[in-house]
Amino acid sequence: MNNFHTPVLLKEITETLEASSGRKYIDATFGGGGHTARILELGGTVLGIDLDEESLEYGRKKFSKEISDGKLILQKGNFKEIDEIARLNNFTKVSAVIFDLGVSSHQIDTPERGFSFLRQGPLDMRMDKGSQITAEVLVNLLTKGELNDLFNRLGQEHRFRAISDGIVRSRRIKAIKTTGELSDIVHKAYGLKGEVSDFVKTKVNKKVFQALRIAVNGELENITEALPKAIDLLEEKGKIIVITFHSLEDGIVKKSFKDFEEKNMGKVITAKPILPVKEELNKNSRARSAKLRVFEKS
Ligand SMILES: C[S@@+](CC[C@H](N)C(=O)[O-])C[C@H]1O[C@@H](n2cnc3c(N)ncnc32)[C@H](O)[C@@H]1O
Repeated sequence: MNNFHTPVLLKEITETLEASSGRKYIDATFGGGGHTARILELGGTVLGIDLDEESLEYGRKKFSKEISDGKLILQKGNFKEIDEIARLNNFTKVSAVIFDLGVSSHQIDTPERGFSFLRQGPLDMRMDKGSQITAEVLVNLLTKGELNDLFNRLGQEHRFRAISDGIVRSRRIKAIKTTGELSDIVHKAYGLKGEVSDFVKTKVNKKVFQALRIAVNGELENITEALPKAIDLLEEKGKIIVITFHSLEDGIVKKSFKDFEEKNMGKVITAKPILPVKEELNKNSRARSAKLRVFEKS
């Protein structure tokens, strides 16, 4: 456990990994290094990738010994370029690639990163602070039709029209710049007045904020591009292990794995996704919508 992030489905992933000394692994979403730490404990060598410099900074301190022992390499980058990143670091025949999608607790809990409707902050939501597109850019520049599509398709939010209307009306008066301003617009679209409890805030804002975050970071495109590249990096019997937190993301993983199977590249190990058990959910509510799928290369 650490404050930066509590790794999800750690026991289930450990059982799948069969990590052992001398084997190489890619943790494509390093975060707070929770999954990486387990692989290192079991004797594996890890290439950890993350878009977020804060995650890598944390990792460099926490794992300074493993880095100087050559057991861990940390690399800033987008996993959609996993082929290039792996080649540059000589990680081209690995036992497993792990994708633990979404955001870390550190990202959500840092108000200045703008991921959370429960904290006042700028409408940012970039995992990579070097990228140009922020949530503020999307909220203020997308057309009403584009906002409708974003909240309907990516957010699966049934009040998408009222929310887009509210945004367009509000930004005519002044640009929408903060998480608080956006969540006030969502509250109005839901007909809420006065002080709103955190419970209700979560209920009404979750999908809108998640949709924006997915769009800002190109999350669906990233995983779609990365999976076929990841399979090329696996040794025989190597595994791709993916944890998703959103149904569209899970759909992409499920379909990609099925396509790989049809091309005789290996087999799906998880006929149904593995979900966190009650014990884990009691300790970590953020594991709530996690789904784990595994593919084994032949
Ligand atoms: C859920 S956290 C991973 C937590 C990690 N498994 C742990 O146990 O600490 C997801 C991490 O993936 C990173 N990330 C998301 N999309 C990425 C991408 N396309 N390329 C590289 N890193 C990405 C985020 O910045 C975040 O730090």
